Amino acid sequence: MKTTITIDREQIISKIDERLYSSFIEHMGRAVYTGIYEPDHPSSDSFGFRKDVEKHIGPLKLSHIRYPGGNFLSGYRWEDGIGPQESRPVRRDLAWFAIEPNLVGINEFVSYCRRNNIEPMIGVNLGTRGAQDASNLLEYCNVESGTYYSDLRRSHGYEKPHNIKLWCLGNEMDGSWQICAKTAEEYGRLACETAKMMKWMDPEIELVACGSSFRNMPTFGSWERTVLKHCWEYIDYLSLHQYYQNNDGDLPSFLANSNDMDIFIKEVASICSEEKKRRKSNHDVKLSFDEWNVWYHFQKDCDIPKKWIFPRPVEEEIYDFADALVVGGMLTTLINNSDNIKIACMAQLVNVIAPIMTTPKGESWLQTIYYPFLYTSQNGRGTAMKLKLDCDKYSCKTGKNIPVIDCAAVLSKDQKHLNIFIINKELEKNTKCVISLNGFKTSAEAKHILLSAEPDAINTLKESPVYPKNYKDVKLSDGKAELYMLPASWNMISLELLPVA
Ligand code: AHR
Repeated sequence: MKTTITIDREQIISKIDERLYSSFIEHMGRAVYTGIYEPDHPSSDSFGFRKDVEKHIGPLKLSHIRYPGGNFLSGYRWEDGIGPQESRPVRRDLAWFAIEPNLVGINEFVSYCRRNNIEPMIGVNLGTRGAQDASNLLEYCNVESGTYYSDLRRSHGYEKPHNIKLWCLGNEMDGSWQICAKTAEEYGRLACETAKMMKWMDPEIELVACGSSFRNMPTFGSWERTVLKHCWEYIDYLSLHQYYQNNDGDLPSFLANSNDMDIFIKEVASICSEEKKRRKSNHDVKLSFDEWNVWYHFQKDCDIPKKWIFPRPVEEEIYDFADALVVGGMLTTLINNSDNIKIACMAQLVNVIAPIMTTPKGESWLQTIYYPFLYTSQNGRGTAMKLKLDCDKYSCKTGKNIPVIDCAAVLSKDQKHLNIFIINKELEKNTKCVISLNGFKTSAEAKHILLSAEPDAINTLKESPVYPKNYKDVKLSDGKAELYMLPASWNMISLELLPVA
């Protein structure tokens, strides 16, 4: 078996938007409480946030964190989470059947983000609420002073406006599971009127409207067209959400999902460009893939926790190495579609379908899926390069002609490195890989980071068998890099570039 990847300096896809490396924290399970926030944890800072968790978040170099939901958003009253903590109401959260004490709200969350050099991406409730409440929240957050809500924020100790630039108009409003779900017409109208008010309140913000909850929704396509028909001029992005499963243990089909994600993105992008053409518009609506991950173990394995407890530990997926390969593949798909995808949030960040796990009052640890995200986020910034990929293809239950390799290449911002991410989905044999470079001159050494393990290997609090290793096995000669890839492996090849005369 041989794979050839050809990369030409002149052939680019797009500059990569830094927001491609974003995440998501919802008031759900133990994501917030005993996840990022646990005032009586030994590592917590004076604000009550766990420093041990921040140490894991830091290296991910997240651009944005989406907050506060998710399904939670559609029943959320943002005013519950402001002002003195001791007078905040305790509520039933009807999205996740848990108790919400409102100890963390918009001010605590935004301050947390900014302390960590991350920007907030905030959702407004378009389930039980509407345009006026969204506009009030925006006034509270972004207006300097001299109005009811801006002065209320100042009275809560936040003198400077939060200046939040990126906002989501609701969450998954097409889903029957959503609190106060809407038809496409209902949502399209509401999103349009909310967007108008919000942009009048602060013209510098950008808005994301809800696309379908996932590709297999019965209304996928028509939902997007209707929403765009109503909102086009007022929104900047349309959202995509997708989680992949491996319920029947069919690994080739599971690993083929990066391909499905690619098709999904291209479908939504073409709906946007049709609408642009139809309107003869100069405006663009790009894509925000603001929930993506693997998610299925918990439903299979768990005892469902009792309702109305706090915190209610739901969806604490334990990821195996096959999941990390799929996550790695999804990241290459996002890079290869960076001409259309401008924002992407891995869902979620801590404890709930997450790369980072915590024990209440105890330690925190890293799941298998942490590593492909870590390396891609750290090394996948700059320009996405077009690839010519020549490799074996396979057929599986879910598709035909699936390339056995997922791959993306990124020229770093300073043009000093070419970083190539390769997932070998061949499960049995080593694969020889030849990377052909046109218009690049490389130094004598290349770095190879390898993740390889049994597909069902998991990390736990005690052990981390899935851990990256550093190799120097790449042979460089005459515009070529050659290496052998292990079966079922995630690889990053980093080539140092020299100036071309
Ligand atoms: O991320 C978990 C949930 O998945 C979110 O609340 C919802 O938007 C999606 O269905």
